[in-house]
Amino acid sequence: MYITEKRLKKIRSILEKRQKDLQVFTDNVKNQHNFSAILRTCDAVGVLYLYYRFLGTGELINEEITMGSHKWVIHEEIKDIDSFFKKKKEEGFQVLATYLSEDSVNFRKIDYTKPTLIVVGNEVQGVSEEVLKYADKKIIIPMYGMAQSLNVSVATGVILYEAERQRSEKGMYNRPSLSEEEIEKIIKKWSTEEVIKQKKKESAMHRLLQRQKEKKR
Ligand SMILES: C[S@@+](CC[C@H](N)C(=O)[O-])C[C@H]1O[C@@H](n2cnc3c(N)ncnc32)[C@H](O)[C@@H]1O
Repeated sequence: MYITEKRLKKIRSILEKRQKDLQVFTDNVKNQHNFSAILRTCDAVGVLYLYYRFLGTGELINEEITMGSHKWVIHEEIKDIDSFFKKKKEEGFQVLATYLSEDSVNFRKIDYTKPTLIVVGNEVQGVSEEVLKYADKKIIIPMYGMAQSLNVSVATGVILYEAERQRSEKGMYNRPSLSEEEIEKIIKKWSTEEVIKQKKKESAMHRLLQRQKEKKR
């Protein structure tokens, strides 16, 4: 069981485009479809780190929606909100909370080429006060319709693609943000996970065939 050269090349090429300093935090996004769609957009835009707080129960990832993209975005659950945001600030990230209020800044007025953590909120309550206090800026996507807000996965996509536009204009997708050492480490981890997954699939298939054979006897 091994991983092909072609596959390794593909993994390396996506890692070379990953923007390690463009990150997302979902503050208790509970709907599986929304969270999975956010993950898929993160993969498309080159976000490597998606952090989440989840106060619900059950599975957050729906593989039919992520289409496998969850394997290529490092997603980490955050329990200690204060330590997490303090650390991000120490690392030099600007924290941008998406927030529907009159004093929020139009999302296009932001420089996303700086190290940026985008915070999106729960489907009903939005971003919590606990998280909002760490925001350097509150940002808003203009709304002209009857509905007050966008679906959270759509809002995340709109903002991430503005970040992508600014970063690609600056050539930030043409040079890796990860060091060679970081790339190698992730390739090793992801290819091992792929092989394990393949093995599990094959043994499940083997067991199924065995059962079918036994039934026929
Ligand atoms: C359905 S909205 C939450 C609505 C909630 N009642 C509120 O006032 O925040 C869910 C999330 O989508 C994002 N969102 C939706 N529409 C937005 C907009 N126009 N500007 C910025 N973020 C938006 C925000 O992250 C928000 O927390």
